[in-house]
Amino acid sequence: MDQKRKENLAFASKAVYYAPESASQSIGMPIYMSSSFQYDAESYQRVVEGERKAVNIYGRCGNPSEYAFEEQIAAIESADNCLATASGMAAIAITLFGLLKSGDHIVCDWTTYSSTHEMLDHRLTDYGITTTFVDTANIEAVAAAIQPNTKVLYFETIANPSMKVPAIPPLVELAHRHGVVVVCDNTFASPWLIRPLEWGVDIVVESATKFIGGHNDAIGGTISMKSKLLPADFLEQFAGTRWSNGAHRCRRLTPGCCCAGANAGRADGRVCRTAMTLARHFESHPKVRRVWYPGLESHPQHDVALSRFQFGG
Ligand SMILES: Cc1ncc(COP(=O)(O)O)c(C=O)c1O
Repeated sequence: MDQKRKENLAFASKAVYYAPESASQSIGMPIYMSSSFQYDAESYQRVVEGERKAVNIYGRCGNPSEYAFEEQIAAIESADNCLATASGMAAIAITLFGLLKSGDHIVCDWTTYSSTHEMLDHRLTDYGITTTFVDTANIEAVAAAIQPNTKVLYFETIANPSMKVPAIPPLVELAHRHGVVVVCDNTFASPWLIRPLEWGVDIVVESATKFIGGHNDAIGGTISMKSKLLPADFLEQFAGTRWSNGAHRCRRLTPGCCCAGANAGRADGRVCRTAMTLARHFESHPKVRRVWYPGLESHPQHDVALSRFQFGG
């Protein structure tokens, strides 16, 4: 199936279909165990000219098992490009180190995954990169935090652990007016609930370890992009120096990603319906003080969630 036809498929169909491997017509991607591939001067030149995926040279730079996973993710994220990484944290680190240099500034939500907060609040400061933490559900606070050296606006589509759901379009509009790149972590939502690139976000990172893998047997991460602010080959620039994911794990994650429609929304949204049932149960439980779940009317961004997320059922 050609790329154009695949783009027109429904999400679940996009997730389950990928072209058979050309050498064997295997519909399950073989695991290429080679650390190195045979190449000559001409093929090396093609790699230099940006044809990394067409000519394999060295496993850290990528191998066909990884490309299959990256292409599946790009299809379900509505991305132009995707890079598979060793973990979700590797995806976040590679993205931020790729975008930022000493003296740059980030505006980031107060609530992100703890290791992300730790990285921004401590590790990046060692490199002269500073962060202002704000409530990204408050657009005035975000506007006030932007400085002349702000390069990145960072938030999570559903924040871990507060379950905050920032409204994406106003954040994108504000950031892009200042030339600021919008990066969001879509791990808690998954591409089944929302595809932030379709709402103007420039880069989406995912911990593929969660809903994308779906089987609790592989750590992995992805960086997907579709951006007018960044060069088309932005991700390619890190292919050789990233913490790569490796053929084995990509092969494990690809069937998970094929089931992403089913993983996050297992059987037409059952995960969301189950979560909703639990949320309602605990909301009326006398021993529970407060439940934070975007599907509940009591959640502060319930309307945003309703208008953006495909809640199951
Ligand atoms: C929202 C979020 N982002 C990133 C990560 C990091 O992902 P990984 O454990 O694959 O490095 C996690 C891990 O729990 C997470 O919950």
